[in-house]
Parts: sequence; C-alpha cells; structure tokens
Amino acid sequence: MDSTDTDYLTSLTSILVAVVTLIFLLHRTWPHLSQPKADKVTKSIAITPLDNSDLTVSKEPEIPEGWWSGREVFELERRALFSQTWLYIAHISQFYKPGSYQSFEIAGFPVFLIRGKDDKIRAFHNVCRHRAYTITRKETGASTVLGCRYHGWSYDTTGRLVKAPQFDDVPGFDKSQNSLFEVHTHTTDQGLIFVNLNSGEPAVFDGVASALSGLAGLRGKSTWVSGLTLSGDFNWKAGTRSRHLDTYTSELHQRMSEVSRPSPAMKLFRAMTGKSSLEKCSLFPITLIYSFQDAGLCLALSFFPASESKTNIRYDLFAHCAVNKPEIQKISEVSQSVTKNLIREIEVEYQSISTKQGSSGELNNTDTRQILCRLQEHTKLERIEGGQILPAMHKPEGSTLFQKADQLCKELDCVSGGSQSGASSALDW
Ligand code: FES
Repeated sequence: MDSTDTDYLTSLTSILVAVVTLIFLLHRTWPHLSQPKADKVTKSIAITPLDNSDLTVSKEPEIPEGWWSGREVFELERRALFSQTWLYIAHISQFYKPGSYQSFEIAGFPVFLIRGKDDKIRAFHNVCRHRAYTITRKETGASTVLGCRYHGWSYDTTGRLVKAPQFDDVPGFDKSQNSLFEVHTHTTDQGLIFVNLNSGEPAVFDGVASALSGLAGLRGKSTWVSGLTLSGDFNWKAGTRSRHLDTYTSELHQRMSEVSRPSPAMKLFRAMTGKSSLEKCSLFPITLIYSFQDAGLCLALSFFPASESKTNIRYDLFAHCAVNKPEIQKISEVSQSVTKNLIREIEVEYQSISTKQGSSGELNNTDTRQILCRLQEHTKLERIEGGQILPAMHKPEGSTLFQKADQLCKELDCVSGGSQSGASSALDW
C-alpha cells in the first residue's frame, strides 16, 4: 500500500468515526430534545393558575378605596384585625384589688377586664348572656359580683352566672351554660395586659413579646398614676401614623422633666453614657408606649377605633417610683393638655388626608403594609369560604334550652321590659 492509499484510508476512517459519533450523540440527546418540550407544556399548565392568582392579587388596589373613612374597610378591619390580634389594653396596676374592673370598647366590641378573688385578671365580652345588655356600665369600678341591671342576672369575677332571677325553677335552664364569654388575655413581665378576641385558638404571642423586649422603664411593679379617655374625629389609622406624634412626645418629655426633675446622679449618668432618656415602643396596631426615664414615668397611648371616622384615645401614665400628690396633679394636667392638642392636630391632619385616595406613599409605613397584608389575607379567605369570617363570634351552647326557658319566663311575665334592641344571647358579630 502506497502513501496515497494510506491517506485515503485514514480520511475514510476519520469520516466513519465522525459519522458514528454523530449518530451516537444524536441517539443520546434526542430524547432530551424531545422530552423537555413535553415537560415545558406540563409545567406551563401547572404554573399558569398560580401566575393568574398572583396577577389577580396585584390587580387589586394596594390601598383600598375608603381606607380613611369607608364603612366597608372598617368592617373588614374589625374581622381581619381587631377580632384576632393581640391588643394592649391596660396595665396590671390598674386593678388594685379583687373586683377592680375596667371597661373598653374596641372597634365596636365591648369588653371588660376584672381582677378575680384569685388575683387573676380575666377579660370578658361586656354582654349579658340573657339579652345582651351591657354588664359594666362605668368605665372603671370595683365589685366582686356584677349584676346586669336589666333583669338581674349576676356574674362573679370568673364570669360564672351566679344568679338568674325567675330562671332557677325553669325546667331545662342550666346556669353553667350561661357564663359570660371569656376573652383571651396575656400579661407580660412588664405588667402589660393584652387581649385577643378570637373565639378560637389565638395567634402566638411572641411577636409582641419581642417588640417589648427593648423597653426599659415600665415594670410589673410600676403604678398607675393618671389616665383619661378622650374622643377624636378621625380614623384610628390617622392617629397611629400621625406626623404630630414626635412633637407630642418631645413636648411631654420636656414638660414632665420640668415637673419631675432628674436627680444629679441621673444627670451625670446621662452625660457619661450619652443615652437618651426617652424610649419608645410601638405595639401594633393601636398602641405606643413612651418611657420618660428621667421623670421615672411611662405613658401608654392607644387609639381605639369607635367607627370609621371616630377614635377613642386612651392614655395612661405609670410611675416607676413614688410620686407625691402635687406632682401627680401637675403631671395629669400636663398630659391632658398636651394630648388634647395632639387630638386637635390629628383632626386637622385627617381632614386633609381623608379627602385624598390613599397613595402608594402610604406603603412606606410598616404598620400600613402590615394592616393591608392582614386585610388582603382575610379577604382571600372569605372569597374561598364564600362569606364573611367572624373570628370573634361566639356560639352559645344549649341555646335551644335557653330559648325555651326564656319563652316560658316571658309567658310567666317574669321579665320587665323586653330585650335591648332585640339582641340575642349570642354574640353575632
Ligand atoms: S338580665 Fe341581662 S339582659 Fe336580662
């Protein structure tokens, strides 16, 4: 074989090897070339509904219409937020003896806190199990037996029905089935009392606990010195996000320092450490707590929604150490006048913001985003359920027996007057 033949054979072998390699590669890769197409189709089918649902959410306005004054938004807030969020409402020092109670109205939910004979503080819906009359009509008071003024049903500090005039002999009536509806409570190490209106299992408390961990000053041994509930014509959200709050705290801080001057040792400590004597803690969604360390005082400021355009502003002052009476008087006057000014300023601010539709600028506020997120989540659940979800609603047990007993009682003419606005013993909100 000459060199030409050798070259020819080498070239032929190279071509054959290349062709075989190509066929082999095509054979290996063909299933992968064809299979992904099938996968892609399958995946796009699987993913499409999710993409669409995301689009549906993003099509909704980020700040809903009526954010500042709409009844529908307020009703949704009641269901999505106030019916299932831990809310700070009082400090343990406000309940100094068994039977001490305090009444609240949280977004239309009447609630009261009471200290039991066992020193435990419990919360109840402030609604009589007979015909939904209000049990505690004063804002604060003290009694170990709470009688409903309408037909005389009485409850003890654990919410147990202890007296139901004319009902005792009615067949089928069971007092133990007619206790007050209890509300979940949690008391922190600092003595702050929170409630959660969810009639089922409430959310875990830990988020609130971490918010409180940085707050020095307020303790379980602090004592309540002064407090007041005022009303304002604005939506509660305008209160918690008001730009006037900083001015409010600065003014309070300055005026409290004038009344209760820091000791020289405290002044020296501040100068050496450079630490601010004012601390702030925000308790989502309605409360702010300020600790005025030099004055040895803490202030809890809450914006309790009364309606879509009315808010009850509650402030309470607590002292970490002994405060004499003239000082308390002075501090009370200062707090009242500064808080009244704040309310006036928020009302003016609200007039201006409520006429504008909520803009995406509102979303810069963390609380606003959190509220919005809760409302959107709840709306989604209600769409899935096909109706409103009312987490605070209680369904009484043994209602049939109760109704029979109540009917019999009416026939015996043992009740005077009739029902309060036709309300039932169930809490149908
Ligand atoms: S006793 Fe309370 S409503 Fe009748």
